[in-house]
Amino acid sequence: MNTLIKNGTLVTAFDTFQSDILIEDEKIARIGLNLTADSDHLIDATGKLILPGGVDPHVHLDLPMFGTVSSDDHYSGHKAAAFGGTTTVMDFVVLDSPLPEGEGSGVRQGDFQYSVDLWMQKAEKAAIDYSFHMNLTQFNEKIAKEIPSLMKMGIQTLKVFTAYNGRLRIDDGSIFKALQIAKDNGMLVMAHCENGDVIDTLVEQALAAGRTSPEWHALTRPAWGAVEATLRMAAMAEQAHAPVYIVHMNAGGEVDMLKYARERGVKVMGETCPQYLFFTIEHLRRPDGAKWICSPPMRTEEDNARLWEGLSNGILQTVGTDHCPFYFDGTRPIVYEGSEIAIPGKELGRDDFTKIPNGLPGIQDRLPVLWTQGVGARKISANQFVELTSTNPAKIFGLYPRKGSLLNGADADIVIWDPQKKVKYGVAQSHQRTDYNLYEGWELKGYPEKVFLRGKLIVDGTQWLGKSGDGKFLKRNEGEVL
Ligand code: URP
Ligand code: ZN
Ligand code: ZN
Repeated sequence: MNTLIKNGTLVTAFDTFQSDILIEDEKIARIGLNLTADSDHLIDATGKLILPGGVDPHVHLDLPMFGTVSSDDHYSGHKAAAFGGTTTVMDFVVLDSPLPEGEGSGVRQGDFQYSVDLWMQKAEKAAIDYSFHMNLTQFNEKIAKEIPSLMKMGIQTLKVFTAYNGRLRIDDGSIFKALQIAKDNGMLVMAHCENGDVIDTLVEQALAAGRTSPEWHALTRPAWGAVEATLRMAAMAEQAHAPVYIVHMNAGGEVDMLKYARERGVKVMGETCPQYLFFTIEHLRRPDGAKWICSPPMRTEEDNARLWEGLSNGILQTVGTDHCPFYFDGTRPIVYEGSEIAIPGKELGRDDFTKIPNGLPGIQDRLPVLWTQGVGARKISANQFVELTSTNPAKIFGLYPRKGSLLNGADADIVIWDPQKKVKYGVAQSHQRTDYNLYEGWELKGYPEKVFLRGKLIVDGTQWLGKSGDGKFLKRNEGEVL
């Protein structure tokens, strides 16, 4: 099937130019002026921008946590992503996965193949393309030996944690060894940077003092912990001669550490997320503050500003979402595709901030919000927008130029973007399967009009044309260090 998109303005990470674009089956076949073809579909994109589909490097779908599960699965989350202009997402496989039904209520410990198979099963309902990172939440000799086998499964990335003691964290020696193994096998370590020991101490003290409201989530996870853990990770990476990617950067001091390390040749890259650009600890002080609970937490306006600077001056490489939604009130069902569904959420921690599931919705919001507040407000250019949200994630995670580009032969993941479209945004426009939206009532200008996944039109205005099972698992190769 052929589709010819005429008279649009192509925006890539490098360039902006008038061109037609021809899609043949799943691929971009030709780019140029005055294209003619016997096409099944002709689309006039006069006044519209043509962008490569967004690549979200950081999402958590169907993730068990705090006795519940993140409320978007690999269908509903993908559908929401598509409505926001994203056509590829990268999800995290949990290493200690639940045992099969009938084998008790425990977990299978440290079995990569078992966990990946389980995640593959969950993702059978995929509606856009996807790949996986592996959470490296245990480390021993057996696991060390098996890490390279992940490459054969198409998984080239390991996430390590310097927080969540006793659950997800492995010690610094193990992180260092993981960096060495990654380096020897063309893999990349991604790091969640906070100080788990300080957090645990502060949480214990806060609870003992009866401080249980959501703001204490932020007050017990200080920015200095994120700052020193970021420098620690960069230092370990340098000593292991390995690259490292810092996820969900949230503090201005982390940007300083990244700059310090990068100026000294350390191969350290950084991702931030929209929530850290817009919100502060003040949001946790609202009566509905639990909506903003995620880890790491919201910081200050100064941190917001320093992160924006990091995006505009190239210190940070990507904007992901860390999409990990929960209902604000999971006792009340919402209607999703005609059926009522309720999933326990933030209310689980009504009396104790440590029991509030950590995470926020954002998979659909990322591109429209960043466009309005970033490109519209002239904090970043349209080319930087594409670079941060599509091209760089594709490059770093070994998918470029198949994804993240508008090049002949690339997958025809294309967004026709209407830069003039105004939307009063919120839960009513969002397909994220939760009962709230962080950007409720925001006036957005610039919005996806049509979204193609490998040549198939899956979003047409407000119409969903995609379907469960259309998404493909993407085996990834060694990525680039940017
Ligand atoms: O609060 C968050 N971010 N939940 C998801 C897990 C993580 O650490 O990224
Ligand atoms: Zn994390
Ligand atoms: Zn995350």
